[in-house]
Amino acid sequence: MSKILVTGGLGFIGSHTVVELQNEGHDVVVIDNLSNSSRDVLKGISGISGKEPIFEELDLRNKQDVQNFFKAHSDINGVIHFAASKAVGESVGNPLLYYENNINTLVYVLQELDKLKDANFIFSSSCTVYGQADELPITENAPVKPAESPYGNTKQIGEEIIKDSCKVIPNLNAIALRYFNPIGAHETALIGELPIGVPQNLVPFITQTAVGLREQLSVFGDDYPTPDGTCIRDYIHVVDLAKAHVIALNRLLEEKNKSNFEVFNLGTGTGSSVLEVINAFERISNEKLNYKIAPRREGDVISAYANTEKANNELGWKSELTLDDAMKSAWKWEQKIRNK
Ligand code: WQD
Repeated sequence: MSKILVTGGLGFIGSHTVVELQNEGHDVVVIDNLSNSSRDVLKGISGISGKEPIFEELDLRNKQDVQNFFKAHSDINGVIHFAASKAVGESVGNPLLYYENNINTLVYVLQELDKLKDANFIFSSSCTVYGQADELPITENAPVKPAESPYGNTKQIGEEIIKDSCKVIPNLNAIALRYFNPIGAHETALIGELPIGVPQNLVPFITQTAVGLREQLSVFGDDYPTPDGTCIRDYIHVVDLAKAHVIALNRLLEEKNKSNFEVFNLGTGTGSSVLEVINAFERISNEKLNYKIAPRREGDVISAYANTEKANNELGWKSELTLDDAMKSAWKWEQKIRNK
């Protein structure tokens, strides 16, 4: 099989993708600067797949280190690029940290791919690029709206950088995967989401509240024009998402891309409201969740869920796990890391 570099490979989606790559027989090299993860994740990965990936602690913001890495690993056949900062709120207060960490690093990696024989590149993008889409479900042709945060802007700019590079770097082939809302954890509870500090995202806040780490969940608004008044999102199980990366990579390795830059939405195609997610949690855990209705959160879109036809028909990938599966795995993981 192939030798694949996974940047940010000890992170939430990265670690689950490393496991699926190894399950497929790929050799994996992980780069991570451990700013939002820990070396312990390596044990979780090898506990599941039976293999520990090669790991190099490296900060991609250091151009010389990136060049040295690729000199030592010139036999890489593909790169899955997760390494980036991803907190929407934090990016508003600290835009330059996001432009440096999400854009400079992408440029440095692409510059090295230009020198490789095989330059297959998978980019971690986000449905954030659509903002509040005019039409639902959202297709890949939906207009990319002016970003509502520097984080979202780095995803939009990132896609443009890759598209422009694919036009001039002859052997560069790339796929951008626009994730909807990744949730859940591996069924073994050996890897999962490790938010640092107070979680911004809904599902880790739910499980941390239920496990007693947080007092109460605030539901940010129940006066939206939706059936139950709360926002709607497309919550996709992280394992389904990880499997999509392997399928996308294999598509590039087998040179099945119609053009050298393609975009796919990765979602379930089903929208769930905040209250529906809470109900799913209560159903699978038999716990009553302590929550209150609070004011709307700045920047939230009302509703976003994916049209999955392109991913289903062209990528040959479809999500298989349900919202309940995801909530069950998230809860099992939360209880495990809190030794409950
Ligand atoms: C989901 C819903 C909140 C927390 C963001 C990024 C996106 C991706 C996923 C990186 C919303 C509500 C949340 C809480 C709540 N990240 N909520 N109480 O904002 O859809 O997407 O994370 O790639 O790019 O934009 O996800 O989980 O923060 O919010 O009511 O304590 O849950 O208002 O309606 P979001 P989220």
